[in-house]
Amino acid sequence: MSTPEFEIVSLRSGIKSLRMVSNQETFHPGIGPMAEARILHVEQQRLVERCSQAGRFVIWDVGLGAAANAIAAIEALKGCIANVEIHSFDKTLSPLAFALENQEDLDYIKPHQDVIRILLKEKVVLVAPNISWHLHLGDFREVMLRPELPSPHACIYDPYSSVSNQEMWTLEHFRNLAKRLDPAVPCLLTNYTGSSAVRVTWLLAGFYVGVGASVGKKAETTVASNHLNLLEQPLSAEWLAKRQTSQSSAPLRAAQHVAATISAEDFVELSGLAQFVERESSKSGSPLSAQIHDS
Ligand SMILES: C[S@@+](CC[C@H](N)C(=O)[O-])C[C@H]1O[C@@H](n2cnc3c(N)ncnc32)[C@H](O)[C@@H]1O
Repeated sequence: MSTPEFEIVSLRSGIKSLRMVSNQETFHPGIGPMAEARILHVEQQRLVERCSQAGRFVIWDVGLGAAANAIAAIEALKGCIANVEIHSFDKTLSPLAFALENQEDLDYIKPHQDVIRILLKEKVVLVAPNISWHLHLGDFREVMLRPELPSPHACIYDPYSSVSNQEMWTLEHFRNLAKRLDPAVPCLLTNYTGSSAVRVTWLLAGFYVGVGASVGKKAETTVASNHLNLLEQPLSAEWLAKRQTSQSSAPLRAAQHVAATISAEDFVELSGLAQFVERESSKSGSPLSAQIHDS
């Protein structure tokens, strides 16, 4: 018999989640799928507040997986005023298929199973009169470049970790992502990582980067944006100063990254970014292009 791709695991809280067998990564490992999705993405993205006015609001859900993040967003936004488009990306539908088969354990799926089945079949489904959910199958690094895709206001970035899914964490990829955003559309990116190497990578790619919410036992996560004023707590000069001596702050240049000290050249580039040198003047909300230009 072949080894299953996923398995159900019980988290410390007693809540169940799924784990990919080959890389041993548990989805939403801290406090469970829905609780984590709400804190990390729904609340930090201020989805309810940002969707409380008329107009288009685009969410990129990167790494649809077993759909906890997308479902948390849908549940939070039912009844909102904006016209919401959720664009979910994944290169495989097997975690979602596994979740559908294991609804007794992953009970957040149950109320949404009919909508998910339509999404899988049609690649788009109307989940409320003003909320559409779109599915894009393929490698996100390529799919995101399709010109017909609208630029996001919220990017829920949730591939596997930078250790086991390295191609989704390289400087080259994030430079492409930063360039793909529309400077006129303020976008916040939310993620579970607290890694210094990832933070440095995002900064060098051209994002403004800030400290994200604490989740479960994790004291800090990380957020990034193309507009400084979307960050509640931008990374500080004190954080920057510590990078020079840290042994794990080199940016993730290659898909085969090994933790290392940042080079003198990268540190000079980092120190020259608008986030650190023009903190006061950019508080009014300079777009991403300013961060790239100044670097
Ligand atoms: C941790 S899971 C996502 C969990 C999901 N957000 C949820 O709420 O259940 C990571 C997902 O990222 C997807 N992924 C990894 N690399 C990818 C790539 N290059 N393009 C698209 N999806 C990718 C994986 O297939 C997997 O489904």
